[in-house]
Amino acid sequence: MSAQTVDGIYLDPIGTAEKAAAQIALRTGVGQHDLALVMGSGWVGAVDALGTPTHEFSAEEIIGFLPPAVEGHSGKIRSYEIAGANGPLRALVFLGRTHLYEGKGIEPVVHSTRTAVKAGCKIVILTNACGGIKTEYKVGQPVLIRDHISLTATSPLIGANFVDLTDLYSKRIRAIVKSEDNSLQEGVYVHWRGPTYETPAEIKMMRTMGADLVGMSTVPEAIAAHALGAEVLGISLVTNAAAGVTGEKLNHEEVIAAGKAAAQRMGALLKGVIPKLF
Ligand code: HPA
Repeated sequence: MSAQTVDGIYLDPIGTAEKAAAQIALRTGVGQHDLALVMGSGWVGAVDALGTPTHEFSAEEIIGFLPPAVEGHSGKIRSYEIAGANGPLRALVFLGRTHLYEGKGIEPVVHSTRTAVKAGCKIVILTNACGGIKTEYKVGQPVLIRDHISLTATSPLIGANFVDLTDLYSKRIRAIVKSEDNSLQEGVYVHWRGPTYETPAEIKMMRTMGADLVGMSTVPEAIAAHALGAEVLGISLVTNAAAGVTGEKLNHEEVIAAGKAAAQRMGALLKGVIPKLF
């Protein structure tokens, strides 16, 4: 459903997220969700581990959401009830996301996370597919995002909104995830606008800057969620070696295939971690 826009910019992004949250509450009968998951490229299969959703609908039926533009991004919203250590939890799951490279501006990119926080979510889990800059990473390996570098020269925040990002990717939650799987590594994710993959020279630059992972999402959503007070977990699935690392060319099919191959492991990880978060 279209948001009110002026020159493509949402007239009232936070108000639009509040309206979207109210529409989701009406759809699901759930006044407050506890946590949200955004499932990126190749992660959609992982969500099967969460069981059967109580509700599913197309995101574009909700105000501010655009139709999906990429294969591997289904554009559905689901609501789940999940058993937690301290009682049942309600999870809002976004299958797919809008990316900056779609050229629709940054507000549709962060609309799901803003909507999630307005729907009550205290924790936002952002998943993505990424290229491995660190040469020791293997395809199919999940890596926890410890920090990020933004190379897109854009932010979802406007105005004198000097938000601290020191603990953007919650240390508390990373510790919980590592207690579930102590083989997990942490890395620095660099946000690349895309839609081209990077050149080998750009990857070399990113490695020199201290980046381990590269992808085209997550960073604006993390900032938007954090600015509204949610705790953020970011998990990247390494779906390919970044450009120039092996000399192989990159393609989207390989990214999707690596995601499918890892879906069961990623699903089990999420299923194990979620009950421990609250
Ligand atoms: N670069 C940027 N985004 C990506 C990549 C990559 O190598 N793989 C999956 N998403």
